[in-house]
Amino acid sequence: MVHNSCVILGTGSYAPARVVTNDELAKTIDTSPEWIFTRSGIRERHITAPNEATSDMAVEAAKAALHDAKLAAADIDLLILATLTPDLLLPAAACQVQHKLGIPTHAACFDLNAACSGFIYALDTASAMIQSGRYKHALVIGAEKLSAIVDWKDRTTCVLFGDGAGAVVLGRSTKAGVGVIGAKLGAYGDSTDLLYIPKGGSRHPATAASIAAGDHFMKMKGKEVFKLAVRAMDEAARDILEQHHLRADQITLVIPHQANLRIIEAVAQYLEIPMDRFYVNLDRYGNTSSASVPIALDEARKAGRIKHGDITLLVAFGAGLTYGSALIRW
Ligand code: UT7
Repeated sequence: MVHNSCVILGTGSYAPARVVTNDELAKTIDTSPEWIFTRSGIRERHITAPNEATSDMAVEAAKAALHDAKLAAADIDLLILATLTPDLLLPAAACQVQHKLGIPTHAACFDLNAACSGFIYALDTASAMIQSGRYKHALVIGAEKLSAIVDWKDRTTCVLFGDGAGAVVLGRSTKAGVGVIGAKLGAYGDSTDLLYIPKGGSRHPATAASIAAGDHFMKMKGKEVFKLAVRAMDEAARDILEQHHLRADQITLVIPHQANLRIIEAVAQYLEIPMDRFYVNLDRYGNTSSASVPIALDEARKAGRIKHGDITLLVAFGAGLTYGSALIRW
């Protein structure tokens, strides 16, 4: 029997050159570097240059992942870009990335929006498409320019987010039980109002008044998101472990969505997995939404934190509220 496992052939990431520290933010809004660090674990974040958009970052992360996989753009027949901040509302930023990289026109290219769970949603989607046997090599990217949708006058949100991109190249293997061995996706659609952008969509198209009121910026009920995030990540992780008859101590590394260190610590406690088995880099990036998991995955691999035979657990939650987990056996 021929197995079609979906394996990760390469990873890459990109962060804009400009680093904005908590000290710098405290000069423009009513906050303190200590408040930001103790409440979130964030020390600094990368912010794009004015002429840099999501697709530009996605292209850089994708180039690094292709180089790592030793593949060329011509080898890719599927591109999924997870983002909630596409360059334009129309068309999909994935098509801009396709063009800039020179990915062939026979490749399927689309954006996917599951907010901060977007990369895990895209990974599961691409993995199923690869396993179907109809696609050979996929590029899955998470890229966000959140600096474009946060209200820089709202201290309750602007201190938390950053810009960046991460990517993986996926391919087929005839070996059974390796690569993306499973995923669990879900959503609490009754909680759409916890994290959203009120105006500028088809329900309430942007008007001069809505822009003046700042209704095209992200609004968040932080405390409520926090509680649901811990519950969703804990459940998503437990479900996938149970489905695959794995114990928490068999997971060598957890790559969580990087939103708040206190959320990650609570999840670690519930799962009874020590914090040294969680990869954390949000002190340097802040929350980069769908880019956070692939950036952390790329860093963890390149830091030697992932070895042959290891099982890595990815877990995330985001606006929607969406959640997702995935298991990778290397
Ligand atoms: O990817 C999904 C994205 N979202 C999240 O993951 C967010 C999840 N939630 C959180 O991370 C946390 O709830 C926050 C970091 C957003 C806030 O932490 P908190 O411990 O829940 O603080 P809080 O909202 O209860 O605010 C405590 C106080 C408030 O003042 P009062 O009402 O106690 O006087 C806030 O006004 O802190 C104040 N505050 C600030 N103070 C200084 C809020 N933001 C700031 C700030 N600097 N930047």
